[in-house]
Amino acid sequence: MAAGSLPQTAYLPYDDRTQTLRQIKGYPRSWTRTPAQPLIERPLTLSELTGPTGLEEKLNLGNGDFSCLTPGGPRAIGQLISVSGRVTDEDGAPLTCALVEVWQANSAGKYIHQLDRHQAPLDANFTGQGRFRTGADGSYQFRTIKPGGYPVMESDWWWRPPHIHFSIFGPSWMNRYVTQIFFPGEPLNETDLLLNGVLDPEARQRLIFQPQPTKVESGTNMLSFRLDFVLRGKNSTPALG
Ligand SMILES: [Fe+2]
Repeated sequence: MAAGSLPQTAYLPYDDRTQTLRQIKGYPRSWTRTPAQPLIERPLTLSELTGPTGLEEKLNLGNGDFSCLTPGGPRAIGQLISVSGRVTDEDGAPLTCALVEVWQANSAGKYIHQLDRHQAPLDANFTGQGRFRTGADGSYQFRTIKPGGYPVMESDWWWRPPHIHFSIFGPSWMNRYVTQIFFPGEPLNETDLLLNGVLDPEARQRLIFQPQPTKVESGTNMLSFRLDFVLRGKNSTPALG
């Protein structure tokens, strides 16, 4: 369809190769997450278009350090890392004060979740989840522990590489973006069905943290990674549920 014939509210469709495959061979869950029928448009309600509001007051956003349960308390086991970047639209305009939620496995590759059957220890000092808001320039930063890889038990062969899940809320409930970001140089990246469900190699690279220069400081040694999220356009960061 030519761009000129699109209704005003529509966006140009993405090149499918830059997005995650809707149905991934060997990953049955991808079938259940994908609508089997054409989508039906329905009018959006006012609260869907304008909410949520006041999240900063309603939610405990903490101090952005998820490597320990209390400031200055005992640290979770694993490699301390700092993650930073910006959230922007396709023109580089910042997504200001967006609510970002992250969740991840601990350094042994274990989630606090009743369906996690991986035989690995939990960490008493780590919940694997956190919330924060982007700044006025769309920037964000948090500390955590580098997650471990974990097996997809029903697969008999597939291990997920270390990754951090991100959810970014725009100005309304209808602007939620979800993805997973991976670490550079991980052998399991090569076989991960989800990461490689993005067929375009350049687009796939946008799902991998960029390592930052290392330095040694007294008391705060950590490795640093960066990821700049672009939420729309040809250079957008692929969504990955
Ligand atoms: Fe995960």
